[in-house]
Amino acid sequence: MNHLIAPSILAADFGNLQRDVEMMNNSQADWMHFDVMDGMFVPNISFGFPLLKAVKKHATKPIDVHLMIVDPDRYLKAFAEEGAYNITVHYEACPHLHRTIQAIKELGCKASVAINPHTPVMLLKDIIADLDMVLVMSVNPGFGAQKFIQHSYTKIAEVKELSQNYNPQLLIEVDGGVDITNAAKLLKAGANVLVAGNSVFSSADQVAAITQLKQASA
Ligand code: DX5
Ligand code: ZN
Repeated sequence: MNHLIAPSILAADFGNLQRDVEMMNNSQADWMHFDVMDGMFVPNISFGFPLLKAVKKHATKPIDVHLMIVDPDRYLKAFAEEGAYNITVHYEACPHLHRTIQAIKELGCKASVAINPHTPVMLLKDIIADLDMVLVMSVNPGFGAQKFIQHSYTKIAEVKELSQNYNPQLLIEVDGGVDITNAAKLLKAGANVLVAGNSVFSSADQVAAITQLKQASA
């Protein structure tokens, strides 16, 4: 399978949101990654429904919603109604993860679980067959433009191994510090969805930065 690129809206220029969404529309981006932070699960507050509405108004690509919030069950329906294609919840935020995943699917969205850098991949063993995607956090969630954590390659390879046994269709997304210098190695480890915020939006030619990530090969 060809890998997917999901530029992260967190790094966009909100004063020129329409321009940046149209840039993604006109690029090789496959999805648009939408980071929701609540100031509780992570030490930062990003954005929520009003910004999602504004993005949806112009976006021609699926919205990949990453919920970095406590008790995400409260908001699943609202994100589905706002047009989320995929909803990712954090393993660390969901005491009844199986129920949460079923709820996302019943709402008609793809269901995904993110794990923080310290969370062992093995904890996903009994849920992985129910998932459309696993998101491996390669930074501690909460902020864009952080340094990539090297141990993430090992974790991606572990998810890949688990998926071969329990869910061969599983997508493996990596989020945090992804750029053209580590893309090929991430794909080689088993990632097939690359999220990129800073490395795309701080680039002088954003469309070209997306193309480069899309052309990276393992
Ligand atoms: C971090 C977010 C990421 C962030 C990635 O908490 O989940 O999606 O936008 O940004 P970069 O690519 O700049 O590390
Ligand atoms: Zn994210």
